[in-house]
Amino acid sequence: MGRLAASILAADFGHLADQMKVVERYADLFHIDIMDGHFVPPIALGGVVVASVRPVTELTFHGHLMVEAPESFFEELSEAGMDIVSFHMEAVPDPEPGIAKARSAGMGVGLTLTMETPVEATFPYLDQVDDVMLMSIRPGWSGQELNPEVFPRVEAVRRELDGRGIDIGLEVDGGVNLQNARRCMEAGANVLIAASAIFRAPDPAEAARCLAEVAKGGRG
Ligand code: DX5
Ligand code: ZN
Repeated sequence: MGRLAASILAADFGHLADQMKVVERYADLFHIDIMDGHFVPPIALGGVVVASVRPVTELTFHGHLMVEAPESFFEELSEAGMDIVSFHMEAVPDPEPGIAKARSAGMGVGLTLTMETPVEATFPYLDQVDDVMLMSIRPGWSGQELNPEVFPRVEAVRRELDGRGIDIGLEVDGGVNLQNARRCMEAGANVLIAASAIFRAPDPAEAARCLAEVAKGGRG
């Protein structure tokens, strides 16, 4: 059984709470992209937004930290109501202090990789984290097309997890839509993340319902 994460980056921020309510019954979590203008060019979202939408829903908030020095954001995000933080391995020399610090701030923790970083980089830490997120686009913007080179990467992490009997989230982030969602699940993902395929669809609730159905269909 997989899960659907609705990424709010493509939502209408003038009506953010309403948009989250509309998809809440189909999504399992909200994916919240945090960007600092350094690790990626744009600036987007942060503790202020997390705190203001925290009362809107009880769904898990999963923060995707596209920032330099991710640890410096943990305390503020935890206080704002973030449940899990996933940070880029490219942003830190050694992920272990970040993993420990996220946990001591009371949050779950995951590791994220851009397309350029070999997936084997995550292997030493798989038994210490709650999820691994593989980018299928260039981080920083929603609305890009999924790069199919992510599929063998998902397969490689899935093989490693299954071989070691580790059951954690394996997520694909970027360009996920109804045309490629099943392929993501077949490759071994168990969390689909989608922003524009949900919030830019003519009927976001219906789009979330369809994507959730594919996610729930299992790994195929
Ligand atoms: C981009 C973000 C993604 C983004 C996905 O850097 O990490 O989570 O919201 O947007 P879509 O689903 O439109 O590619
Ligand atoms: Zn993201």
